[in-house]
Amino acid sequence: MKKADLDWANIPFGYMRTDYNLRYTWRNGSWSEGVLTSDENIPMHMAATCLHYGQEAFEGLKVFETKAGDVVVFRVEENAKRLARSSSKILMEPVPEDLFIEAVFKVVNANRRFVPPYGTGASLYVRPLVIGTAAQVGVKPAGEYMFITFVTPVGPYFKTGFKPVNLIVEEEVDRAAPLGVGDIKVGGNYAAGLRASTRAKENGYTEVLYLDAKEKRYIDESGPANFFGVTKSGQYLTPKSDSILPSITNKSLVTLAEELGMKPERRPIDVEEIFDFAEAGCCGTAAVITPVGSITFRDRKVVYAKDGKPGRHCTELYQKLTAIQVGDAPDKHGWVRRVPG
Ligand code: PLP
Ligand code: COI
Repeated sequence: MKKADLDWANIPFGYMRTDYNLRYTWRNGSWSEGVLTSDENIPMHMAATCLHYGQEAFEGLKVFETKAGDVVVFRVEENAKRLARSSSKILMEPVPEDLFIEAVFKVVNANRRFVPPYGTGASLYVRPLVIGTAAQVGVKPAGEYMFITFVTPVGPYFKTGFKPVNLIVEEEVDRAAPLGVGDIKVGGNYAAGLRASTRAKENGYTEVLYLDAKEKRYIDESGPANFFGVTKSGQYLTPKSDSILPSITNKSLVTLAEELGMKPERRPIDVEEIFDFAEAGCCGTAAVITPVGSITFRDRKVVYAKDGKPGRHCTELYQKLTAIQVGDAPDKHGWVRRVPG
């Protein structure tokens, strides 16, 4: 298969048109067959619940080409489970796990020429989403849903790639409430954070670090990724909170940190602890591991990357994770699945 003519090593994290997207509809109690289309637009009723009442949930996962030329997907079952959980929590019809996996395989196969070649550092980002499509004006679940999956080749989320970024602790904006929907992947959480991240960028920071909304004391997560710190004794610490997204990347890093003897622990992390860490990082599908170079909290700033380079632990975790994702390291935990071609 001839690859698309792209500058693979330099693609940004953004939307690029590919050949097909895939759509299923839920109507009268069942999911339809999947329909592949080249149309990038969705015909939709103007009173659809996704447009008014936020019935929308999405996922993000990555597909890689291995050295042997196989196309593989990372932890697809976990994304399937999370989308079902997100959908159920906002009363949308959950997509069954096998349908989700079928959709990922189908849409990747239909766009195989967009899977970035091994060794370019790029990947094929898969974006599944579920939306409420039926018209309602009263606040009620839609009863009709569309499950769409599109793909786009991507480079690193933070344009610096595996280079330290600068965060600012956000105190004026809450991303999510403790008993709200911060633990699921729904569009409203990102809309809620836009003003904070835009302001942070205007002030020269890469992203914000949110605190828990109740006590404004414990670290929650960053805008597009989970957060971890590495203590001076080399322990991997990551926030335990009901209002953060349970990151599949972070879950994987906890496993890898265990193997590296980093005694990983999930617990509430007081924001003051940032001043004692040796290293810190953001992690997620898009962010992979992005080392944190500095964190500004009020009038204080802690600098981790004094020479502008990622720390030893972040580097080790990054190498271990990415080697498994592209099939260079043994997949001991069964995280990688071949996309049958
Ligand atoms: N937190 C938020 C708010 C995110 O949007 C993401 C991205 O998916 C993550 C964390 C990381 O989750 P994952 O590693 O499953 O991609
Ligand atoms: C991902 O990492 O897949 C995400 O969805 C984060 C998003 C803000 C790009």
